[in-house]
Amino acid sequence: MTANPSILLTGGAGFIGSHTCLALCAAGFEPVILDNFSNSSPAVLERLQRLRGQAVVCERGDVGDTALVQTVIERHGIAAVIHFAGFKAVGESVAKPLKYYANNLGGMVSLLQGMDAAGCRTLVFSSSATVYGDPASVPITEDFPRSHTNPYGHSKLVGEDIMAAMRIANPAWRMGVLRYFNPVGAHPSGLIGEDPLGIPDNLMPYVTQVAVGQRPHLNVYGNDYATPDGTGVRDYIHVQDLAAGHVAAVQALLGRGESFTVNLGTGRGHSVLEVVHAFEQNSGRPVPYQIAPRRPGDVAQCYANPALAHRLLGWQAHHTLDDMCADAWRWQSQNPSGYR
Ligand code: WQD
Repeated sequence: MTANPSILLTGGAGFIGSHTCLALCAAGFEPVILDNFSNSSPAVLERLQRLRGQAVVCERGDVGDTALVQTVIERHGIAAVIHFAGFKAVGESVAKPLKYYANNLGGMVSLLQGMDAAGCRTLVFSSSATVYGDPASVPITEDFPRSHTNPYGHSKLVGEDIMAAMRIANPAWRMGVLRYFNPVGAHPSGLIGEDPLGIPDNLMPYVTQVAVGQRPHLNVYGNDYATPDGTGVRDYIHVQDLAAGHVAAVQALLGRGESFTVNLGTGRGHSVLEVVHAFEQNSGRPVPYQIAPRRPGDVAQCYANPALAHRLLGWQAHHTLDDMCADAWRWQSQNPSGYR
């Protein structure tokens, strides 16, 4: 490995990308962000500069622009790409499927074409536990059958398949598929965090917006699931642990070089009400909630067996639910309107 290899982060200005950017710097890599800011704010760049003590290189543009991808890779001597860029709202994907297939799959194809043309064939992909559909049991291992219930999930599943086809066509490709469980939390500085546009779909940003007074109460989607308190159970993972998982993935691909697919989760499930109570304790703010009907498409329980990531990458999650709540609250309370 050369000193300070440059790593391209598509969608690097987003929630997980921005945290990974800092983790890469700390591990001796040189990040280069490629982002069209369709679902992120350029203000994150100034925050990253403050935290790093030095500017982060950013190219404004779209992964769908194959020529741009090739040019950026060549210009910066990119050693590996982490592909974060993509849309991720489940409900929107049902209403606007072509938006999701065009961006998530069109973007993937264009990225691979640009990488191939530039001779860079090392890729880490943001996949999702959504590819497990409604799992037959928990904890989930990577060999569980895959399925999908919406175009977003389908786009992640097919994204994995496109990568597999490329490896068959040319074994020079080195690829890491990271199946995220439920990323939450924020950088401990409170300077960067999750900044959803509009009404949050996901639990934690909704909870933080209730706590800060922007929304009157949380709707808890169902309390009649077959779980200890009847509410849905998920594997929440601190974004800092997730960022460390990307660094470990890049190091493994640039080192040993074997492709892999791993879960990134803690291996622990927490219910919606456990999250609400932990958040109240760590923020000192009440989070009023109402029990609402189940949300279509939700499953009762989803949590990882993260042993393979530990074995292959030497990675495991360290942060607790309390850490996730405390850091999410620091970000939300210091930035009530996000980056705006
Ligand atoms: C968690 C729990 C809800 C909001 C989704 C995608 C997945 C992944 C992450 C992303 C569930 C409950 C939620 C609310 C609630 N993709 N909930 N009130 O559904 O596990 O995963 O996001 O980028 O592909 O499907 O995460 O945070 O939406 O929900 O009660 O207002 O919180 O029912 O039990 P989910 P979530």
